[in-house]
Amino acid sequence: MISSEKAILQLKKGEVVAIPTETVYGLAGNILMDAAVQKIFTLKSRPTNHPLIIHISNSEQLKLYAQDIPAYVELLTKAFWPGPMTLILKKTDRVSDLVTGGQDSVGIRMPAHPIALEIIEGVGAPLAAPSANLFGHVSPTTAQHVIDEFGNQVPVVDGGACHVGIESTIIDATDPKVCCILREGDINAAAIKKALGSSAQLIEKPIDDKRVSGNLKKHYAPRKKIFLFSTLNDLKKIQAEQGSIFVLHYADDFKTELGFQCAKNPRDYARQFYHQLRLADASACTAIAVQSLPDGLGWVALRDRLAKAST
Ligand code: TXA
Ligand code: MG
Repeated sequence: MISSEKAILQLKKGEVVAIPTETVYGLAGNILMDAAVQKIFTLKSRPTNHPLIIHISNSEQLKLYAQDIPAYVELLTKAFWPGPMTLILKKTDRVSDLVTGGQDSVGIRMPAHPIALEIIEGVGAPLAAPSANLFGHVSPTTAQHVIDEFGNQVPVVDGGACHVGIESTIIDATDPKVCCILREGDINAAAIKKALGSSAQLIEKPIDDKRVSGNLKKHYAPRKKIFLFSTLNDLKKIQAEQGSIFVLHYADDFKTELGFQCAKNPRDYARQFYHQLRLADASACTAIAVQSLPDGLGWVALRDRLAKAST
């Protein structure tokens, strides 16, 4: 573990450091230093065509790194920044192809974590930061998770447990009239529509699938297999077939020896979810059983994560 001051020095030198954000921990590097950006891809074993998002600490940086910004974007940044919203915008030449995987757009987010903001401000440049996990694995929500993932390869700034617990909502805002949710997070479609008013249309399906945006079928996944269940009968069947299972549920009817009862509301559930998947993975169980999530707008992001983790 290192202090924010030390992290700033390391990042200025081109090192990669794990930092807390309100969503999940990020594996951060100075976007103006190609070697640092390269190192992020190497550490994560991430394909280089899978673009990184950049994290800013003030709104002047938005104009330095994005251009042709649609008018409605101001409504979104006013409503949700600093916070768990990433905007895809047309990039300026200041953003290297390395960061964007050769695309002409860039993902930008102003995180709401005081330590993240302090570090970005101290470095004086945006930080590229994907979630601080190996490619395809569960995102880390504590400093210990990052250490479990990378050992002593990466210094970590400990900012406590992440308040949101799942990755940011990604909105493609490259079109002047229509914006599109590429990945749901804590900020849902209803909140975005409310912020937009009549200034732009919101669609919930990507217009094309050229862009990669957490859109791999399998992602956010523990090493052990996840089985979904809805009824006690389903659960018994999984138990009979798999032997010892770790049961993650929210309803009261599924008390089991090994497992965890998550919160019944999506915000608190999100805060617990990745940590519990990691505990399940580390347990002696052979498989993980997760109760299917409720319908309803508040659960969209979590249903997406669970679907990808259980593919
Ligand atoms: O909450 C978060 O967003 C966290 C914290 C650390 O900020 N970061 C995060 O980064 O989840 P990552 O790399 O794990 O996920 C970002 C997603 C990736 O699926 C990437 O493909 C997509 O954003 N992305 C980045 N730039 C993009 C672009 N120009 N166009 C479309 N998708 C993009
Ligand atoms: Mg990730």
